[in-house]
Amino acid sequence: MSPADSTLPNGPLLKEPHPDTRSADPAAGEGTLSPLLSVRGLCKYFPVKSKGLFQKQVGEVRAADGITFDLMPGETLGLVGESGCGKTTTGRTILRALEPTSGEVWFRLGEEGADPRLPVKDGYVDLAKLSEDQLIPLRTRMQMIFQDPFSSLNPRMTVRDIVGEPMLIHKICKGSELEDRISDMLTKVGLKPEHRTRYPHAFSGGQRQRIGIARALMMNPSLVVCDEAVSALDVSVQAQVINLLQDLQAEMGLTYIFIAHNLDVVRHICDRIAVMYAGRIVELAKTEDIFKHPQHPYTRLLLSAVPNPDPDTPMNMDFTGEVADPGNLPQGCAFAPRCPLCTEICKHDTPSLLNVSKDRYSACHHSDQLF
Ligand SMILES: Nc1ncnc2c1ncn2[C@@H]1O[C@H](COP(=O)(O)OP(=O)(O)OP(=O)(O)O)[C@@H](O)[C@H]1O
Ligand SMILES: [Mg+2]
Repeated sequence: MSPADSTLPNGPLLKEPHPDTRSADPAAGEGTLSPLLSVRGLCKYFPVKSKGLFQKQVGEVRAADGITFDLMPGETLGLVGESGCGKTTTGRTILRALEPTSGEVWFRLGEEGADPRLPVKDGYVDLAKLSEDQLIPLRTRMQMIFQDPFSSLNPRMTVRDIVGEPMLIHKICKGSELEDRISDMLTKVGLKPEHRTRYPHAFSGGQRQRIGIARALMMNPSLVVCDEAVSALDVSVQAQVINLLQDLQAEMGLTYIFIAHNLDVVRHICDRIAVMYAGRIVELAKTEDIFKHPQHPYTRLLLSAVPNPDPDTPMNMDFTGEVADPGNLPQGCAFAPRCPLCTEICKHDTPSLLNVSKDRYSACHHSDQLF
C-alpha cells in the first residue's frame, strides 16, 4: 500500500491512537495528505549514574516518554511546556542528534527513496532504526535552528564559510555555483551578499539568527526544528524573525516543529500545539482550541501565566505544588500532585493521550470535566 492509499488515522504505520488533526478530516480537503513525519511512542531516557569509581546506573531521567504525533507537510507544530519538560530532547531525538531509547520516527522520503541503502516501507523510513551511514543522505532534509545564534555560529568563520559549509560537507556544489547560492540565501533571509566576508561578532542578535537560518536552509530541508529560535531576541526583532520564518516556510515548503516558552509567539506561528509535561505530551490540538478551551488542567496552568489571556478561556482552577522531576516521577499521572482535579485513579494510572473530541487529544482521567 502506498502512503497516498493509507486512510489515516489507520494507515499502515499506525499502531495506536493517532494524534493527527488534518488528515482525519476529509472535509477540510486534506484527507489524502500523508504525514511528513509520524512519531510513535518515542522515548529518550538518560541514565543517572552513582558517584565514585564504578558509576553504576542508579536511575534514569525520562526526558521524552512515549511521544506520539503526526506532522503534515507545510504544518507548524508548537512544542510548549515548562523548562525541563523534554522539548529539546524530543526535537533532538527526532532528528537523531540524540539516540532514541525506543520508539519509531517515520519520515516520508522524497528522492532519497531510490537510495538502495535505505530500508523503505510504504515510502517512509524509521529514522530511529537507521545506522549512521543510512542517515547521511537524509541529514540534508532535516535541520535545526538554535536559540543562541552566538554560541551556535563559529566565531572564527566568515558568514560565507558558515552558510556554505554544509554544501561542501555534503559535496553538493562548489566554486562559483556555491558563491551564487550563498548570495541567494543571504538575500532570502534579509542579509546582503556583501555580508559574506564578515564574522559573526559584527552582526546584531537578529542578524546572527538570520545567519543561523541561512545555514540551516541552505540544503533545502523539508523538516526544520526551531528550538527557542527567537527566545533570545528583543520583542521587535522576534516579530521580524518570526515573519521571516513564515515567509520562508511558504516559499520553500518547510515543515516546522517550533519549540518555545512564549505562548504568544507560539500562538502566532503554529497550526497545532503539543503541550508537554514531564516528558509526555498531555494535550495536542489546534492552536485556537488550545487557547480558547484548554482541555488539560496543565494547559490551563500554562495559560494562566499568559499576560493577556482570552477573556472567554476558562481558568477557574487553583494549582499548588512543584514542577515534576523527570528523574523522579510519581506513580500515575505526573501532574497529579499539582492538579486540582486529582483523584485516586490519577495517583495510580498514567493517562494515555486519547482523542477526546474532534481533532483534540488529551491525557487526563478527568478531561470530561473540562469541556
Ligand atoms: N544529556 C543529558 N543527560 C542527562 N539528563 C539530561 C540530558 N539532557 C537533558 N537532560 C534532562 O532531561 C530533561 C529534559 O531536558 P530538555 O533540555 O529536553 O528540556 P526542555 O523542555 O528543552 O527545557 P528548557 O525549556 O529549559 O530548554 C531535564 O530534566 C534535563 O535535565
Ligand atoms: Mg530546551
